[in-house]
Formats: sequence, C-alpha cells, structure tokens
Amino acid sequence: MPIDEVRKVCVVGAGRMGSGISLQCAVAGYETAVFDISDEALQQAPARHRGIAERLVALGSLGQSEVDAGLARITFTKDAGQAAENADLLSESVPEVLELKRRVHAQFDQLCPSHTIMTTNTSSLLVSEIEGSVRRGDRFAALHFHGFRTVVDIMRGPRTSAKTVEVLRRFARSLQGETKIAQQQSVVGQYQKVADAASEARQVAQMLRLAYQEGLNALSLRELPDFLDPLKMPPWA
Ligand SMILES: NC(=O)c1ccc[n+]([C@@H]2O[C@H](COP(=O)([O-])OP(=O)(O)OC[C@H]3O[C@@H](n4cnc5c(N)ncnc54)[C@H](O)[C@@H]3O)[C@@H](O)[C@H]2O)c1
Repeated sequence: MPIDEVRKVCVVGAGRMGSGISLQCAVAGYETAVFDISDEALQQAPARHRGIAERLVALGSLGQSEVDAGLARITFTKDAGQAAENADLLSESVPEVLELKRRVHAQFDQLCPSHTIMTTNTSSLLVSEIEGSVRRGDRFAALHFHGFRTVVDIMRGPRTSAKTVEVLRRFARSLQGETKIAQQQSVVGQYQKVADAASEARQVAQMLRLAYQEGLNALSLRELPDFLDPLKMPPWA
C-alpha cells in the first residue's frame, strides 16, 4: 500500500539496480518515471522489467495482475525535467563514481520540487561525500537496495532530518511487507552508530546474513559498525 507522502518516484539510472527498484516501486502502487542518459538502456529497460517480473510470477512472489498494474505505472524518459516533475522521491542508481553521483544529484536538486526526498543507492560511497552537492541536505539519504523484496538499508548523512528517515522507513516498508530495514548514520570520515541500532542488532545481523547468502554486497562496508563486522559476527546472529 503506497504511503501518503509519496505518489511519484523518479528512478535515475535504468541499469540493473534501477530496473529492479523501479519495478518494485511500480508494483507497490507508485507512479514511476525512469530516467537514463542512454538510449540503449531505456530501450532495454521494459524487457528487463518483464524478465524480472516473469521470474517473480513463476516463483509465486508476484501475481500476474500485480505485475500488469505495476508495468502500466512506469514511464521511461531521456528528459530529466519530465522525470523530476512532481516527483516526491528520487532513487539514483547511476554507476558507482563519486563525481558522477555528485553531478547527477546537483542536476536533480535543481529540477525536482523542493519537497522531493533524494536518495542514492550507493554501495560503497559515503552519504556525506555526496550530499554536499545538494542544497536539500535534510531531504537526502542513502536508500540502498539489495534485490527484489529482500533487504533495504537507510543511511543518513550529516544533515538528514528525522522526518526524512521516517518517510524512507515507511516507504521501504510499503514496498514489501517483509522488508528488513537497517538504519545507519554516516558522518564525515567515520562511522557512528545510530542510537537504536544496538536494539535492532539481531534484525540487522539477520539482514546481513540474508544479503550475504544471496551473494550481494551487504552494506556499505566502509560504514559497517564494528558489531556488524562479518568476521566477528555475534553468536546470536
Ligand atoms: N549491481 C548490484 O548488485 C548493486 C547492488 C546494490 C547497489 N548497487 C549500486 O547501484 C548503482 C547502480 O549499479 P547498477 O549495477 O545498476 O549499474 P548499471 O551499470 O547496471 O546501471 C547504471 C545506469 O546508469 C546510467 N547512467 C550513467 N550516467 C547517467 C546519468 N548521468 N544520468 C542517468 N543515468 C546515467 C547508465 O546508462 C546505466 O543504465 C551503483 O551505485 C551500485 O554501487 C549495485
């Protein structure tokens, strides 16, 4: 069930992750605009969506009617202004290059409405390295996906507001009833645990194990708190 604050999601990057994320948003009921600079990526994206959806229907994870309704909510565009128009949330999945991500976020900071929450799907960069490129630091965070309806982690930057984190948590949950959500806070140059991380340690550790089992990059490894160091996984994990 979509949350009230978000009606339209703008997904920047139509590659592997952007395709999975946009499909996930669309089947959850969000109007979804997919933007890419590459004609080839935009041409391939609908087939990529259908391929992911077919596998999920075959596995029983999605119903065909859910897929059909979701696919109808997705638009593809090479026009950044059109993608950003009326967006309530932006999810960026361009290649893992700091300067590129900074440039893309600066571009969309200019184009998106002032209320839009902007997120990066970075795997290894720090939020604090990227967020200086936008004016809306209070509405900027990492929303890091690992696979279709598996796990999502939310990483704050130094300016991210509590309201933004709350909206992102509810948004992540709205994508999937069983989503495991980890919340972290990044600070310039070093990792700092959020106050409630310890109480969620078991949940986070389970999430990590799930992500590793899937052979995925579990979290931004540079920002792992020490109690989540996979080499020192606690006995209860
Ligand atoms: N692949 C994974 O397993 C995985 C998992 C979690 C997170 N991530 C992160 O997701 C991000 C994307 O990874 P991916 O595997 O989807 O990459 P990808 O190469 O499959 O897709 C990247 C897309 O971004 C597009 N792009 C490049 N410059 C652009 C621009 N200026 N504006 C708009 N689009 C642009 C490219 O044309 C391409 O379609 C990276 O930050 C990566 O670290 C990847």
